[in-house]
Amino acid sequence: MSKLTDSPAWRALAAHRGEIAASRITDLFASDPRRATRCSVEFGELFLDYSRHLVTPETLRRLIALAEQADVSGWIRRMFAGEPINHTENRPALHMALRSDRGSFPENADVMPQVREALARMRSMVGQARSGGLRGATGKPVQCVVNLGIGGSDLGPRMACRALRAYDDARSRSRGERRLDVRFVANVDPRDLDAALEGLDPQTTFFIVASKTFTTAETLDNARRARSWLEAGLQGRPSAGADAGSHFFAVTASPARAEQFGIPTERIFPIWDWVGGRFSLWSAVGLPIALSIGMEGFDALLEGARDMDAHFHTAPLERNMPVILALLSTWYVNFAAAQTHAVIPYAEDLGDLPAYLQQLEMESNGKRVDRDGREVDYATAPVIWGASGTPSQHSFHQLLHQGTHLVPVDFILVAGGRGRDMLATNALAQAAALTRGSASPEAYRALPGNRPSSTIILERLSPEALGQLLAMYEHKVFVQGVIWNINSFDQWGVELGKTLARALLPALQGEAFPADADPATRALVERIRRMR
Ligand code: F6P
Repeated sequence: MSKLTDSPAWRALAAHRGEIAASRITDLFASDPRRATRCSVEFGELFLDYSRHLVTPETLRRLIALAEQADVSGWIRRMFAGEPINHTENRPALHMALRSDRGSFPENADVMPQVREALARMRSMVGQARSGGLRGATGKPVQCVVNLGIGGSDLGPRMACRALRAYDDARSRSRGERRLDVRFVANVDPRDLDAALEGLDPQTTFFIVASKTFTTAETLDNARRARSWLEAGLQGRPSAGADAGSHFFAVTASPARAEQFGIPTERIFPIWDWVGGRFSLWSAVGLPIALSIGMEGFDALLEGARDMDAHFHTAPLERNMPVILALLSTWYVNFAAAQTHAVIPYAEDLGDLPAYLQQLEMESNGKRVDRDGREVDYATAPVIWGASGTPSQHSFHQLLHQGTHLVPVDFILVAGGRGRDMLATNALAQAAALTRGSASPEAYRALPGNRPSSTIILERLSPEALGQLLAMYEHKVFVQGVIWNINSFDQWGVELGKTLARALLPALQGEAFPADADPATRALVERIRRMR
């Protein structure tokens, strides 16, 4: 038994789960007319309703006791103080600095001068690009920017650009700035880049190579192919004194590698080892967002996240949004054997949120060894999945209502904006149907109900609200990691696959197999060769 599963708070929760196993959420509402308001928290532009969970006031007390036992408040302080909480890489996790407005942060290792300098460079590049001052090799102004990146160098900015595609910033428009066409390429499948480049003019197309390490095979392969596309497209055209290299920017913590690739020093934006890839959209990795909505919009996104940081840092545990979400998830994962968690945004523009949260939660907390190097004897991150409602209702909601799995759901909806009524009513109806279920003489028609969900309402789909929402999920992930006593900031599990793929490429191209290739891999490679 681990220290955690043997601890008083854990044991108390396990016993309590047995006591309330037969309770129904509908009975909890019946016995407390104020449950809906009691089980809710409001902060900034967000409202969280967690009344539709199978938790009593006693459950919540015991969950808070678990958080106290894990010293969540102490860990929050340690993270904000810049302690090297990512112990396997001996680094702090300081993504909050990227949106901080403090003079210095954190106290002992001030990183704010670097952050401010990078933001100032972003501001100047974004203003220039959006007002037509950024010109390519033939002198034409940039029209389209293609982001080449993967994982954290793709999912965050891709999701945020889509989320804010209807956002119109009057201030930057009044300065004559215009929205740029921003596209994303992540997959090493050449079809991804080909499709993104369709209809584009090499003279007006720029690329951002976003890679913290600048060693990621997919991104570098795409960058090389993008350069060839540019060179071929610019060949023979009258040059304005620059070449294909002038169409590239990089965002990386390895500027030397970017320079080696041919990107000029002044076009390389920094990111630092104290920012994890999946927490990096607030840095220059967010350039596509700023190019798309303008720097004022990007500032507002940072402001929203900053507000959530302050809430997370100071609110008591029982009123702290990220803490509440983390505890509810722990309740189902560890005491009700839930293996998955669905995120269903009722806003088409938030359609990429589930994919973004998959990396955030599963790369952070998909761990099986605790901070002391011991194998855990409890479940950690659930499988995160989901898709945009209402289409999801006509696809997988059947399983949510009548399937055999317990799947807690986050319903996310937006209060204000055009055409939101049908979305809101559908989201609310789905949550209600999951809670109450319905009886029927025919078993196949009956819905058992008693299935838990949270409802998260954004006042509007603004940069501020999005910043608050994303920072809320970031901190939720951190709190879960603290409770599970795991390091949420490394990702060693992804390395082996990368190494094996690298070693296998020559074999697929007709050369010898690596000595350690297993029989199944050998047989499959040979099969692929024969099928070509
Ligand atoms: O392989 C996983 C990973 O390291 C992620 O953590 C990261 O976001 C992604 O690859 C991309 O890494 P990079 O920004 O260094 O190209």
